[in-house]
Amino acid sequence: MRKLEKNRVFEGNLILVNQNYPLRCTIAAKNLCPVFENQSQILMQQECAGMLDKLFQELNWSISEEIYQLIVGVSGYRTKSEQEEIFDDSLKENGRAFTEKYVAFPDHSEHQTGLAIDLAENREEIDFIRPQFPYQGICQKFREKIADFGFIERYPKEKQDITKIGAEPWHFRYVGVPHAEIMKRYGMALEEYIVWLKQFSFPDHSFIWRKGDREFKIGYVEAEETLTKIDLSEYGKQMQGMEERAGEIISYNLAECKELPNIQISGNNVDGFVITYAQ
Ligand code: DAL
Ligand code: ZN
Repeated sequence: MRKLEKNRVFEGNLILVNQNYPLRCTIAAKNLCPVFENQSQILMQQECAGMLDKLFQELNWSISEEIYQLIVGVSGYRTKSEQEEIFDDSLKENGRAFTEKYVAFPDHSEHQTGLAIDLAENREEIDFIRPQFPYQGICQKFREKIADFGFIERYPKEKQDITKIGAEPWHFRYVGVPHAEIMKRYGMALEEYIVWLKQFSFPDHSFIWRKGDREFKIGYVEAEETLTKIDLSEYGKQMQGMEERAGEIISYNLAECKELPNIQISGNNVDGFVITYAQ
């Protein structure tokens, strides 16, 4: 039986951080690492930095030029005070309407999660708040691959009413595999996905997603007032062994795991947990 404390709702790859739901967990510095060799100031959480690196490498093989010369990082993990500074500077320079459209309030920014990154097409002039990342050329090639590596384009034009943020073709958010693919397939923003998942209660009414010879079982568990108990016993002996390594399970990378059954638990930052079981 897994026992999850209430504050675990606020941690994990699927946390919804937006105007309504602030970030409520602390991101430990040891979990952050640079994404690009030549841009040591751009940090992300380890699992997602690793997946972004893989995505870049795969793209690199398929093109004749060096990908790192074509696409560069603009902004990754931000502390609360960095987000405050960006917000306040933009207020002075660009006014309130622009700022609230393109800069999240401090503690309401995905950049503070270490799961989001702004990327730019490498040009002489790169705008920090609104970098260019067009829907064509290498940027579009990149965009077409992101779901396979667990990333989504977080603020598409057609979802502005839901996200409450203007179109940001440059902002990518890690949600993990296979969630990014499901969201893409059904055209859901993260706000919509978190609500949609609630109909699939884990384990009996989980959503089944097949990819090649792999099957993912995804379900929701509502958080209890203090401890939420999740029965994972049906996942057999290997599973129980993994349960003992409680801390590791959370950050286990399903995309890396090809043989063993595997389980990942993420809070949704609202009211419960999303369980992802891969076999
Ligand atoms: N630009 C995004 C919304 C942020 O500031 O987090
Ligand atoms: Zn961003």
